[in-house]
Amino acid sequence: MCGIVGFTGTQDAAPILLDGLKKLEYRGYDSAGIAVMDQKTISVNKVRGRIANLCEKTDNGSSVPGTTGIGHTRWATHGAPTEENAHPHLSNDGRFAIVHNGIIENYLALRDELIREGYQFQSETDTEVIVHLLERYYRGNVREALLKTANRLRGSYALGVICSEEPGKIYAVREASPLILGIGIDDNYFASDVTALVAHTRNVIYLEDGEFAELSQRSIRIFDCTGAEIHKKTTRILWDVQAAEKGGYPHFMLKEIMEQPGAVRATIAPRIKNGTVEFEELGALLPELPGIRKIIITACGSAYYAGCAGKYALEQLCHIPVEVALASELRYANPLTDEHTLLIVISQSGETADTIAALKECKSRGAKTLAIVNVVGSSVAKSADYTVYTWAGPEIAVATTKGYTTQVAVLYMLAICFADHLCQLGNDKEERLDTLLALPRLIQQAIDMNPSIPELAKKYHKSKALFFIGRNTDYASALEGALKMKEISYLHAEAYAAGELKHGTIALIDDHQPVIALCCNPSIMEKTLSNIVEVKSRGAEVLALTFRDNQKILPVADDLLFIPNVDALFSTAVEIVPLQLLAYYVAKENGCDIDKPKNLAKSVTVE
Ligand code: G6P
Repeated sequence: MCGIVGFTGTQDAAPILLDGLKKLEYRGYDSAGIAVMDQKTISVNKVRGRIANLCEKTDNGSSVPGTTGIGHTRWATHGAPTEENAHPHLSNDGRFAIVHNGIIENYLALRDELIREGYQFQSETDTEVIVHLLERYYRGNVREALLKTANRLRGSYALGVICSEEPGKIYAVREASPLILGIGIDDNYFASDVTALVAHTRNVIYLEDGEFAELSQRSIRIFDCTGAEIHKKTTRILWDVQAAEKGGYPHFMLKEIMEQPGAVRATIAPRIKNGTVEFEELGALLPELPGIRKIIITACGSAYYAGCAGKYALEQLCHIPVEVALASELRYANPLTDEHTLLIVISQSGETADTIAALKECKSRGAKTLAIVNVVGSSVAKSADYTVYTWAGPEIAVATTKGYTTQVAVLYMLAICFADHLCQLGNDKEERLDTLLALPRLIQQAIDMNPSIPELAKKYHKSKALFFIGRNTDYASALEGALKMKEISYLHAEAYAAGELKHGTIALIDDHQPVIALCCNPSIMEKTLSNIVEVKSRGAEVLALTFRDNQKILPVADDLLFIPNVDALFSTAVEIVPLQLLAYYVAKENGCDIDKPKNLAKSVTVE
């Protein structure tokens, strides 16, 4: 969703801000803008649409002189994606320019109050109240104005602020929306996401809720919500710049699909020690496991589907009932949780608003909380009692791939680790560990053994709808496979539990209707085969995904995708890969903007 960058230093700010905004494009946005300060003059440039338009408007930044500035990509919430509603917003006296991520919940009341006092609004945004409050509270001291303004705001905000009375300074304020300071040599930065910083510096400081910072060319000062100066530790970002670049691939999504063997290896390998799964992060939780009566997994989007896939391994190996709940539902469901509940929260970004809220709700009701997160230092990671990082590296394509498979891999590992501590693992422990360790190789094979996918995409890309069917673990994979297809190719795709077809959906099956049938779980394969025959006899065209040695499927499938043989309990991490590739190539055939699908955002920081 929205992205923020800020720069102060010796070089021209505009090209650096534009470059930073390009790094944030992946988050999803529909307008963009920059404000640059030259001595005491602030100039603002804003556009609808892509950063490329902003580059054109400012001649790649060269028409906007000045060494201090802020920039923003906006994903519209309050007000259409117009130039007026794009950030930065200016105060009526022209002294302040601000950019904002998040939502100000009490903006209507503040807006009325400010209008009564004579302030004029140029936009429909919730953000604009902030800049007028700054003007109202400014009495020659920006920090004081920031504190007073922050005290009036309810909701979430990461703010970037410049003031013409203080050339060379940029201010950053954080409340429930990420903001990271980048420490340069003769320059300093802030951004809502480290990807916008790594080209300039690896040394960063994560702001916490209620903190704000004053940055100038050579100094960074940080203050708490009372205005007292505080000192914070510097963190070194370990991944390199190439990790956030395409590296020769036409799209980030394809690169990230191909990176899955390595990402899953990085997630699993360091945690298999002494013939078992060891999570150093979970030291204090493991002795409490015998008291856990129920596990709830909560998340949004693909992370929720990762939970659906992991449920089977957790339940079957640990013998603890597992519920999987959408975070947007769970947060308002008065969840029945207590100290005997373990809440597992899954989030690639760690910043999804509903996921954070569900975590806080269950935690306040006594649940023990464990987060599976990719982004280090994110809000979910900070709020949970225990955090397991997925180590997938930066994921740039909006549609998650390696984020998802590494989440699933962590759930498999948790299942084995918990079962081991509960003495539930039998003689097959070694076999389970071998399967875990083999996953990177099996994922690579799933990529290699399906060279026909680009051709199949040519056959299926014009379909009006695609149905994905499967049972048990295959159903979990079908859910994510259909979501991938919808997200990036804009085809209508639905996943159905194969046994449910005859309760309604089969009415939609007609001549040449494509059905993607997942048959990677031998325990229920015969049942799915019957469902395939049912749709075939109503004219469906069946593309079956199955394991290599499955002869039974040959007579009923029109087309085939394969995965190597793998224990069904752990198969989703492998069987999702051909489905990701199918979605990718169908989207390519349809000429879609694969890495930045329309209307979607990488990290959904609003409700
Ligand atoms: C957005 C993304 C999805 C993602 C979901 C949850 O909708 O487009 O790919 O699965 O958010 O995100 P999270 O960062 O919490 O995993």
